[in-house]
Amino acid sequence: MQAKSTLIIFLTKKNLGGRAMKKKKTIPVKEEGTLSPYTTSVKPSVENDDSPVYLSGCRSVDEFKKLNLIDEGTYGVVYRAQDLKSGEIVALKRLKLDREKEGFPITSLREIQTLLLCKHPHIVNLKEIVVGNTTDSIFMVFEFVEHDLKALMDDMKSPFLQSEVKTLMIQLLSAVASMHSNWTIHRDLKTSNLLMNNRGELKVADFGLARHFGSPVGRMTQMVVTLWYRAPELLLGSDEYTTMVDMWSVGCIFAEFVNKEPLVPGVSEIDQLDKIFKLLGMPNDKIWPGYSQLPHASKIRPVNQPYNNLKAKFPYMTENGRDLLQRMLTYDPKQRITAEEALRHPYFKENPPAKDPSLFPSWPSKGSAERRKRDSPNAPLGRVDDDDLTLEQKQTIHSLSQAQMQAGATQNLGFRLRF
Ligand SMILES: Nc1ncnc2c1ncn2[C@@H]1O[C@H](COP(=O)(O)OP(=O)(O)OP(=O)(O)O)[C@@H](O)[C@H]1O
Ligand SMILES: [Mg+2]
Repeated sequence: MQAKSTLIIFLTKKNLGGRAMKKKKTIPVKEEGTLSPYTTSVKPSVENDDSPVYLSGCRSVDEFKKLNLIDEGTYGVVYRAQDLKSGEIVALKRLKLDREKEGFPITSLREIQTLLLCKHPHIVNLKEIVVGNTTDSIFMVFEFVEHDLKALMDDMKSPFLQSEVKTLMIQLLSAVASMHSNWTIHRDLKTSNLLMNNRGELKVADFGLARHFGSPVGRMTQMVVTLWYRAPELLLGSDEYTTMVDMWSVGCIFAEFVNKEPLVPGVSEIDQLDKIFKLLGMPNDKIWPGYSQLPHASKIRPVNQPYNNLKAKFPYMTENGRDLLQRMLTYDPKQRITAEEALRHPYFKENPPAKDPSLFPSWPSKGSAERRKRDSPNAPLGRVDDDDLTLEQKQTIHSLSQAQMQAGATQNLGFRLRF
């Protein structure tokens, strides 16, 4: 029998760099067993910023049989594996600790914390944390989801049908609305971070860049969101941004579902802005109050494009579809549509109706076979956003990570590492 390894991670909003919430929001919790977009099925310490969440008594990775490598991302290696006890197929994401000089990576702590806070039918389920034989091998165990939507669309001969786009968008928006109502910004929404199972269910994944935020949101790093999905306020150097950065990414994803190709595939930040301006027209202070005051606005070469070109780019989309897309791709973040508003948009009420997920076709799963090839940009390398952290917070993380592996300290205080 395998001896249980011990890993204790202290997750508090304080040591994760989260700011105290000045304004509290009530998150309705339904009866146990019924998940609504606003359900949190675990109760971590959102109420009290200082009280730690204890994660303890995790299993060894030897209790899993690795089946194949699914992908190697910027911050972790993902395997398909089988739980030898239950026979269940899971995805094991090995944390890359070798990049860390300061112990347990803050991105992984944040990923665990936000995944616990954001339990939802359309957010990938983190089941438990397991450890390997060395202190630098730690794995997150997720439900296995057959496809990522980027790889799937690369293999599809034609784009999704309008009824399928609607279903995917409703699922995505309900996950994003729930995340935002739980005071979490994802900060890396893109098609390769959206998974879909063979029952047509979309699951938002990769919370490595996600952050809990307070009100006001405060300053955060600009090194977030993969280039093609990055909002103009970030590209123009704003460090005070909101959940609306996710809604810009959702707009880019919506366009990609419709056309089966990335909307604005820039090769550099300047090129990205140039492509956005050519598609949507050059912004100004009239449509985006405060635009000219943004840090990089004066350095930008103006583009001679006064109008929006969405109609030419999406000739077969209905007026309502284009209107929703336009509202997601609105320059001024204050005027951009929220996920909750988007769910009420007339686009979702017009024909054709959203397809029942169970009627989606099934495709062969690349995740079950061979490694995927990457041809889209990676998440920004600045995702270890140290500038979000105070020296005290960095020291706390460092000393906790030193302490975390000391054997024998297993007391079942609070959460076990099974969720
Ligand atoms: N639960 C899962 N089931 C199946 N495949 C998964 C699962 N989680 C992740 N993957 C696959 O592994 C890839 C990388 O995972 P993830 O995005 O979490 O890692 P990362 O290193 O943080 O990513 P990035 O490539 O964005 O830097 C995903 O794009 C997806 O193809
Ligand atoms: Mg990813």
